[in-house]
Amino acid sequence: MTQDWQQLNRDVMAVLQTARQRVLDRMASPLTVAEKTNRKDLVTNVDRENEQFLVSEIRRLDPEAHILGEEGFGDRLTSLKGRVWIVDPIDGTMNFVKQHDNFAMMIGIYQDGVGQLGFIYDVMKNVLYHGGKAVDGVWANQDQLTAPMDLPLAEGLMGASSPIVIHDIAHMQAIVHASSGMRIYGSAGIEIINCLLGKTVGYISYLKPWDIAAGQILLNCLDVRVSTIDGRPLDMLSSNLVLVATKKAQRDILQIEEDDVSL
Ligand code: IPD
Ligand code: CA
Ligand code: CA
Ligand code: CA
Repeated sequence: MTQDWQQLNRDVMAVLQTARQRVLDRMASPLTVAEKTNRKDLVTNVDRENEQFLVSEIRRLDPEAHILGEEGFGDRLTSLKGRVWIVDPIDGTMNFVKQHDNFAMMIGIYQDGVGQLGFIYDVMKNVLYHGGKAVDGVWANQDQLTAPMDLPLAEGLMGASSPIVIHDIAHMQAIVHASSGMRIYGSAGIEIINCLLGKTVGYISYLKPWDIAAGQILLNCLDVRVSTIDGRPLDMLSSNLVLVATKKAQRDILQIEEDDVSL
């Protein structure tokens, strides 16, 4: 049977709207916060509960689904065959804990490794970015987005995660020098939204599949490039040092990477 992607898109939007209300309700009570690997890597009761909720709703919508979820309530995946749902229940957990703002829920749906539908929900702004190849466009709630301008690095702001800047990974300082400046938002989802809207020309971070699965689908649909820092396709079953960039900014950043190699 062929998949009705339009219907699935509407169904997932409805699930995420319910999930948002549940998260807002839970935020009225104190959060239970635990460290995962270190004091900067947190998880809360809401991350876990929201993933459990999303996984059960995904199984209702798509009983054959293979699910990869950050908090481990999905399946153990070794391949991208079939329909694979990649879920980040709260992206930007540190912001969620410290700011009660600037965090997102993200779902990416892949069919045999090809991105079809992506969803990034800016929970506090109540804007759901959704769309992808399967529905031929990207929307912010009901408004269709046009592709951001293809600006070169020199004419745009760069985003990155803090460790990339602190440790000058991938020649980040040279990249920032060559750009109009840098911004750090602390959530891959929020950074990707900024790239979708043309507020930044690029973003660099070490990312797990759930940090970039939805974003890659939405960005590609608006002609924004997603690759490893050396320009290769991402491995969606493992971590990648990810470069998101407009076509021209990607060219400029890959040139900076290459110039250093030849020193
Ligand atoms: C993290 C955030 C952060 C990024 C990290 C991610 P989480 O996701 O997106 O901005 O720098 O690499 O792990 O753990 O809050 O879902
Ligand atoms: Ca996390
Ligand atoms: Ca994340
Ligand atoms: Ca998360």
